[in-house]
Amino acid sequence: SALSLIAIDGPSGVGKSTTARRVASRLGWQYLDTGAMYRTAALAVHRAGLDLADRAGLERLLAGLDLAQEGTRIFLAGEDVSEAIRSQDVTRGVTPVSADARVREVLVEQQRRIGASGRWVVDGRDIGTVVFPTACCKIFLTASPEARARRRLLELEAKGQSPVFAEVLADQRRRDEADSTRAVAPLRPAEDATTLDSSDLTLDEVVDWIVARHQAHP
Ligand code: C5P
Repeated sequence: SALSLIAIDGPSGVGKSTTARRVASRLGWQYLDTGAMYRTAALAVHRAGLDLADRAGLERLLAGLDLAQEGTRIFLAGEDVSEAIRSQDVTRGVTPVSADARVREVLVEQQRRIGASGRWVVDGRDIGTVVFPTACCKIFLTASPEARARRRLLELEAKGQSPVFAEVLADQRRRDEADSTRAVAPLRPAEDATTLDSSDLTLDEVVDWIVARHQAHP
């Protein structure tokens, strides 16, 4: 039977987390940000100075990995790392960590445990394909690379940074390529996902569309 869970997958910078959070609040459901989990794992790997080739060290780190999400805040062993996981360093360093099969196994298990009770909107790359294949509603959110880089640029500027468009675009392309071509859980739409191109839509339009889609096929 279908799980009461809305899976929102798609490439970086498409606005999945903002969209997912808004959809959850409209429906009165909970929201899980799986990208934040991979980012937090990458931060833990970085802080431990761990080389991913050190498999015993990785096992120890994963065994003690204490992640939590409360509202919009993300915690690593009780420390609020919400800002730290959005740094450029973590954004670059997350690619090899999220491509690691063992890291994915551990995080996917945590995600399934969280999603098993209650109603959730979950965003990521592999939610509809791997983590929750029986989700009742699967959205694959896309937008042109330029539209996504433009949004990301505005976001960084709003944080007081001075990003360069070409660099934002190149960094995004590198991440898209890595996420789509990796061996484990590559980014791709589930066969039963509905693709929504948000290039020319506002955030409100995207949220309205997903809520309406869900209400039509609950
Ligand atoms: O969505 P966000 O950009 O925060 O995700 C950070 C990174 O985590 C992505 O670049 C991707 O490599 C990885 N990720 C993943 N699977 C997910 C969510 C995120 O591999 N379900």
